[in-house]
Amino acid sequence: MHENLNKAMVTNRTFTMLKPDSVEKGNIGAILEKITASGFRIVALKLTQMTTADAQAFYEVHSERPFYGELVEYMTRGPIVSAILEKDNAVEDFRTLIGATNPAEAAEGTIRKLYAASIGENAVHGSDSDENAAIESAFHFSGREQF
Ligand code: CDP
Ligand code: MG
Repeated sequence: MHENLNKAMVTNRTFTMLKPDSVEKGNIGAILEKITASGFRIVALKLTQMTTADAQAFYEVHSERPFYGELVEYMTRGPIVSAILEKDNAVEDFRTLIGATNPAEAAEGTIRKLYAASIGENAVHGSDSDENAAIESAFHFSGREQF
């Protein structure tokens, strides 16, 4: 029974960052409004700035990709808003809400279509699996910061 309860909690949560371009452009309020209006409950939220080591670790999976250096520069150049979001089917539904990695390919009405400038500076992060949502949430938030 406890295992089932824990699993239900994990699979209903995802992790997001409003990336530095979103903060620079003054889009924090608009993006959070869109997220909550889409049925996500904010269960953790803060403004922080990642160090180079933080960004390198967070995007370790991309370390061999040609864009890794630029990605780390971008993600550390200013503050981000990080958040944990709760909703049924959170990971998949949030990926749908943010749209394709490249805003030129993102569907109408998605956060990246509305607020992203390019494939590199694409406004928001969304976890790609329940497992990564849990790992990324723990990377950014202590237990006392999650509700
Ligand atoms: O963020 P998402 O899961 O949609 O894409 P990803 O493939 O996991 O890539 C992580 C991040 O790297 C993207 O959100 C972009 O900021 C950046 N990226 C890039 O600069 N150039 C690419 N060709 C692909 C990704
Ligand atoms: Mg990804």
